[in-house]
Amino acid sequence: MLSPQASQIRRMFSSIAPRYDLLNHLLSLNVDRSWRRQAASLLADPLEDRRGLCLDLCCGTGDLLVEMARLGCARIVGSDFSHPMLTLGREKLAKRNLQRRVQLLEADALRLPFPADTFDGLAVAFGLRNLESWGDGLGEMWRVLKPEGRIVVLEFSRPTLPLFDRLFQFYFLWILPRIGKGISGHDTAYRYLRDSVQEFPDQARLCQLMKETGFAEVSFRNLSGGIAALHWGVKEGRPTE
Ligand SMILES: C[S@@+](CC[C@H](N)C(=O)[O-])C[C@H]1O[C@@H](n2cnc3c(N)ncnc32)[C@H](O)[C@@H]1O
Repeated sequence: MLSPQASQIRRMFSSIAPRYDLLNHLLSLNVDRSWRRQAASLLADPLEDRRGLCLDLCCGTGDLLVEMARLGCARIVGSDFSHPMLTLGREKLAKRNLQRRVQLLEADALRLPFPADTFDGLAVAFGLRNLESWGDGLGEMWRVLKPEGRIVVLEFSRPTLPLFDRLFQFYFLWILPRIGKGISGHDTAYRYLRDSVQEFPDQARLCQLMKETGFAEVSFRNLSGGIAALHWGVKEGRPTE
């Protein structure tokens, strides 16, 4: 059962689904494609392993899944709780003949229907921020990863240069919500994006949160001057009894 807040987030993503890809590429001037490619490349080892199994959590319309599938031969699962997002993802995969290697599943990221120690690699792109509890979300990711399994988190972050940060804030506060509303017809979704990015932990705090969850070898790399960042880590420990 989803909480009222999660149900509202699901309704919001479902209503913007038809315009989601267009807006992503437009608002980021297409840079989001390169960010996802870099996220997938951090999972190259498990993706290149024929026996590997990888998860794209909060997969949306499947852009990251396509990048992951391009890189290797592992089996891949994409999960999301928005049916319209998954429907678009299914069409995208079919167009690229990837439907056999990539399975899509409708599921809440905080209650994944997988046993512990299932995946060799896990990526989440612009998904963690939307979960009701980032800590619980990371905990669930930790649970479903195998020991030695790798997590990759792609999220908006904080630009490192003060002047660039101010320009970016101006764009994010004033321009992005207006373009978002104009194209998606949705009043709140792109204001929500702005607010959720402001609340989300910066690079150092996210590293800390990942370490507190139990991930080891945690590190990050800024993308486009820190507009976004890639964080990664490894699940240490033994298989769950
Ligand atoms: C900003 S989109 C990112 C989609 C995709 N990963 C990408 O890179 O474009 C966030 C996605 O997370 C999904 N989502 C948010 N909260 C979720 C939850 N609790 N469980 C499953 N999916 C969730 C939404 O339905 C939406 O598709």
